[in-house]
Amino acid sequence: MHIAVPTETSPGELRVAITPDSVARLVKAGHVVRIQAGAGQRAGFPDASYESVGAVVADGSGVYEGAELVCRVQPPSADEIVAIPQGAALLSLLQPGRNSVLLDALARRGVTALALELVPRITRAQSMDVLSSQSTVAGYKAVLIGAAALPKFLPMLTTAAGNVTPARVFIIGAGVAGLQAIATARRLGGVVSAFDVRPAAREQVLSLGATFVANDLVAAGAETSGGYARAQSEDEAARTRTALANHVKDVDLVVTTAQIPGKPAPRLITADMVASMRPGAVIVDLAAESGGNCELTLAGETVQSGTTTIIGPVNVPATVPFHASQMFGKNVLALVTHLSTKEGALSIDPTDEITGAMTVVRDGSVVART
Ligand code: NAI
Repeated sequence: MHIAVPTETSPGELRVAITPDSVARLVKAGHVVRIQAGAGQRAGFPDASYESVGAVVADGSGVYEGAELVCRVQPPSADEIVAIPQGAALLSLLQPGRNSVLLDALARRGVTALALELVPRITRAQSMDVLSSQSTVAGYKAVLIGAAALPKFLPMLTTAAGNVTPARVFIIGAGVAGLQAIATARRLGGVVSAFDVRPAAREQVLSLGATFVANDLVAAGAETSGGYARAQSEDEAARTRTALANHVKDVDLVVTTAQIPGKPAPRLITADMVASMRPGAVIVDLAAESGGNCELTLAGETVQSGTTTIIGPVNVPATVPFHASQMFGKNVLALVTHLSTKEGALSIDPTDEITGAMTVVRDGSVVART
């Protein structure tokens, strides 16, 4: 199979879809990988590191020469869509729920599009799931962002200049990002508590050595068959806000990660809760891009409310581009392997549980817009 890896052009996107370690495996399996010159540069992977494992480094649109499969991180622009050979397949984050125009353009071009967001949450597909790998990066980095903005240490210190009590860190939403945030905050010495609505998340929080807030709000039916949380009822949401209000006032750093797929993020921290927080408290809202878990969050901005700082970072995984790309590349490698026949040809089987779920454009038509 001929695989093309273009340079990412979205503002602030520093990642690359495949890194040399994964390219080496693809080349060994008999595939031809063409990478656009400079594509890995900003993530810490120079052209020479790709060449040394057998990739072809191509200038400009030469990357698309003979391409049967194009692998990207972010969706292509209109200009990039017309550079993709007709009949080729595209593997990329596509945000199909909000990108109708893009899907239509791909359909007109005759490109088969597979959305990386739609990898099903089944054990077999875990190694292909970029949402998980990139959430791990985001959860880690969110704690570092918060720690850097906090006017306090995170760990307990015993020094000649006196003793320092550890900061209290509260993680809301204990999915992939939240669990990594818990682990990171614990490593930095914070006293960590967490909350989620899913019973499985409660067990995982406890196994990481954090305390769980509001046990009584965990609901057996909170998890859908896909492993995600369902939206809370109005009554559940009100009880959650009350429990969170009681806890938030006693913490220094809050990292929020709560998401409901396909819906705006649940509003969990109100302006009143922010006003009740300790002096110098910091909120890092990882749900900023889908509306924010805090009422005061602005995506891509840092808001000061009284003495509390509310940070709404966007595209956090791109701020750790080396490892985020390496993990992304491993996911792409697993997917390409899944999409290859024994002879190494590309096979897009709509009846396959993984491939079928990810296919949003096929045979010139948009087949899914969620
Ligand atoms: P996500 O990014 O959609 O949501 C983050 C977290 O927010 C979830 O844990 C969710 O329960 C929580 N949340 C939603 N509403 C909330 C509320 N009102 N208050 C507090 N928390 C709330 O989810 P993520 O992290 O992508 O994955 C969630 C789960 O999916 C994982 O923990 C796991 O069980 C499952 N999963 C399965 C995979 C597989 O089998 N291949 C791969 C990745 C995740």
